[in-house]
This record gives sequence, C-alpha cells and structure tokens, in this order.
Amino acid sequence: MSSMTWLPAALRRRVLRLAMRLGSRGGSSPMPDITTLRKVPEHLTYPLRRDGVDPVPQLAEQRAIDPVHKLGEILGIKIWLVSGHEEAKAVLADMTSYSNDIRHLLGNRRQDSAEGVGGLGFTDPPDHTRLRGVLTPEFTMRRLRRLEEGIGAIVERSLDEMAAAAASGDGTVDLVDKFGFEIPFRVICDLLGMPDDVREEFHALGVARFDISKGGTEVFGAATETRTFLIDTVKAQRDAPGDGMIGEIIRTRGDDFDDVELGGLADGVFLGGYETSAAMLSMGAYVLTRNPEAYRLLREGTPAEVNQVVDELLRYLCPVQIAFPRFAKSDHDLFGHTVKKGDVVIVSLAGANRDPRAVPNPEQFDLRNAETMHFAFGHGLHRCVGAELARIELRAALTGLARRFPDLAMATDDLGELGFRDLSIVYGLDRLPVTLG
Ligand code: HEM
Repeated sequence: MSSMTWLPAALRRRVLRLAMRLGSRGGSSPMPDITTLRKVPEHLTYPLRRDGVDPVPQLAEQRAIDPVHKLGEILGIKIWLVSGHEEAKAVLADMTSYSNDIRHLLGNRRQDSAEGVGGLGFTDPPDHTRLRGVLTPEFTMRRLRRLEEGIGAIVERSLDEMAAAAASGDGTVDLVDKFGFEIPFRVICDLLGMPDDVREEFHALGVARFDISKGGTEVFGAATETRTFLIDTVKAQRDAPGDGMIGEIIRTRGDDFDDVELGGLADGVFLGGYETSAAMLSMGAYVLTRNPEAYRLLREGTPAEVNQVVDELLRYLCPVQIAFPRFAKSDHDLFGHTVKKGDVVIVSLAGANRDPRAVPNPEQFDLRNAETMHFAFGHGLHRCVGAELARIELRAALTGLARRFPDLAMATDDLGELGFRDLSIVYGLDRLPVTLG
C-alpha cells in the first residue's frame, strides 16, 4: 500500500498541505508526522474490512467483548474504536470532549484556513459553523423539491440507457457503470450548476478519481485536477453565475469567499455526494436482487414502505464505514475507559448499525430493523448535510429500477467478479453484471 492510501483523499490532501506548511516554516513539530506512514499495521484494519457486504466477524466479536476498545497505536497516537450503538451516539454528539480538527493532531493552532468542505468534516466551530452555514440553505426541503423533478428525469434517462445497452449486447449490463455512478454524477452536476459543455471533462475526472484500480498516485492526481477544475468553474461563474449552487452562493454571498474556498466547497459536495450515493445504489441493487419482497415493495408499496426499504438498506450497507476521526480535547472517561488528550476516537458506523443491543435482527437485511435509528449519515454536528438529498435520490432511483425492471437478476454467481473494495473508507463495489429480464 502506498503512503497514506488508507486515509480519505480530502484528509490526505489536507495533511500534506499542512505538513508542507509546517516544514516550510522551518519549525520542528513535536507531533508525529503521519505523512511518513507507509503501511497501517494489519491488525488495525479490520474495521474497514468486509466479507461481501458484511463487516468481518471480528468487529462483532470485539463489540461483544467491549464496544469501546483500544485498537492500537499509530506513530505513538493511541487509537480507540467505538463499535456500539449507544457509545457511537454519545461520541458523535459530544463536541465538548472531541475536536474534528486535524490541525489539532499536528499541533497547528492556526485558525485562518477555511479550506473548503473537503475539509468540513475536519473542521470545528466557528469555521465549521461558517462553512456549513453556506451550504445548508442549498439543502432546504424547498430547494430539494425543485431538484426532485430533475432527479426523476435523470433516473429515467439512466434506465433507458441500461435498456439500450442490454439490447445492443448480450443482454448483460454493468449496473455500477450505467446506474450506480451515472445517476449521482448527473444529480451533483445539476446541484452545483455545472454547465453542459464542461460535464464530459468533469465526468472523466470523476471516473479517474474513483477508479482505484489505477492506484493511489493516479487517484490522487485526479483529485487535484477535479479541485482545480472546480476552482476554474467558480472563476468563470463569477462573471456569469449559473442557476445551481455555485451561482447561488456567488450571487448571495460571493464576496465572503474567494475562488479557492468556493471551489473547495463544491469539491466537498462532489466528494461527499458522489461516491457515497453510487455505492448505495450499486450495493442496494445487489441486495435487492436477493430480497424479492423488498423489491416488490419498492414497486408497489406505500411511500412509508418505500422509506423503510431505503432506510434499512442504509443501515445494513452503511457505505461510509467510519466517521471522521474525533480527537480528544482533554482526558476523560468513555464508558469506563480513560481517554487521554490527543487520543483519536474512531467510530465504526457499520459496527454501531449492527449492534444487537439496539437492532432486532442486526446481521440481516430485515425491514423490522427500520424502526431503529441508524448512523449511515453519522450523527451530531457533522451529520451528513446531503442526507435528505441522498434519500430523495435513492428513493427515485430504486423505485424507478424496480418498476422498469421487475425481473432484474444477477448475471453471475461469482461474488469475486463484483470487485468489492478493500480497505476503503467508502465501501462499495466496482461491477455488478445484471440481466434486466
Ligand atoms: C447515501 C449517500 C450518503 C451517505 C451514506 C453519506 C454519509 C455521510 C457521513 C457518514 C458523514 C460524516 C458524519 C460524521 O462523521 O459525523 C457525511 C458528511 C458529509 N456529507 Fe454525506 N453522505 C451521503 C450523501 C451526501 C450527499 C448527496 C452530499 C452532498 C450533496 C453529502 C455531503 C456531505 C458533507 C458536506 C459532509 C460533511 C458534513 C460536516 O462535517 O458538517 N453527502 N456524509
């Protein structure tokens, strides 16, 4: 594994930038330099490992012994793993004991850089409040309802393309390509207000960014290019604001942010909303091919039943496996353990979602579980800002799929062909060959 590839791209970029800044100032930081980390020890990686869609059994075994557990140390930094439902809720809601600011870990006290929503999850108030405040008006139900109609049209277009691809080939279609990635990409473009003539280039960058088969360096390069591309889009929209989020922010609060900040904001929305929704659509379709009753409910059920199916898919699949790291601000007690200032607390969202103390039938996809609060969107101050948009998108796409292709089936029995990710914070699959019936 190359250096830092276990970290999400946004965190990697931020750490590298901060490390360069610290280095260029000629000062010596007393904190460990996590950019020097070449490989995470094997025994620390199980919270990111899965067997198909299920977390590896070690996670449940550890949660049964203790839902708060000292996972180990990396470069002298103590790491705690929280895998229980009650414990996860407590940590994620506790802004007094924890900071999300990665600079805290590096001993960097500078508060001047609002480096974009790519870093929103790594930011504390007041920066977090200011940046999130820019985004929330774009996600009100009124704004989202305006997007909803467009989302319906995007879904229909994607389903048409699937049907055409099946008809022109051997009847098999890769659902990840034509449905999983296609729908969230178009939704994010509409949300941001990307002009039509740049979408093709943006799409190519998006594909490269999430194509892990090309290795860390290329993915990293594509991430930088996407960000530059979005900064250029912001620059262009300064003169002619579009009708999406970028244009709206420029029109209403444009003077408060420079191009880099706004580009970062757009990049964070792209990063947060694209791969996560794609993973849910692809893995969701996979689970539905094995649960015909839930698939029928998507086709024929009431809105409440459809919501149940979507939320149980979110709980069960939980594509964002762990929350943003929380850094202890002071020594404190955490369910009987003494957490020291500077320790890192990792909340396993997938673990909390499968805690048998809270969920009736945790290891199964089972609609009776849908009553329990889940953590697929996190919890507390950093809870996903796009959660309602994601729900609208999942509902539209999955009900559309169920109505158009009621006989959807897997075209392979070999799960190895699906390319489930390895050690990825956002879990997902790379291929899903299906027949449309
Ligand atoms: C099924 C799709 C999605 C899932 C599973 C998901 C999940 C999450 C999770 C788990 C967090 C972190 C919570 C924490 O650490 O406490 C998060 C944060 C975030 N998400 Fe999502 N997300 C999804 C879709 C979206 C969409 C569509 C957008 C935007 C268009 C988005 C934008 C963000 C942003 C900006 C944050 C950072 C919030 C903050 O730190 O205040 N996400 N998401």
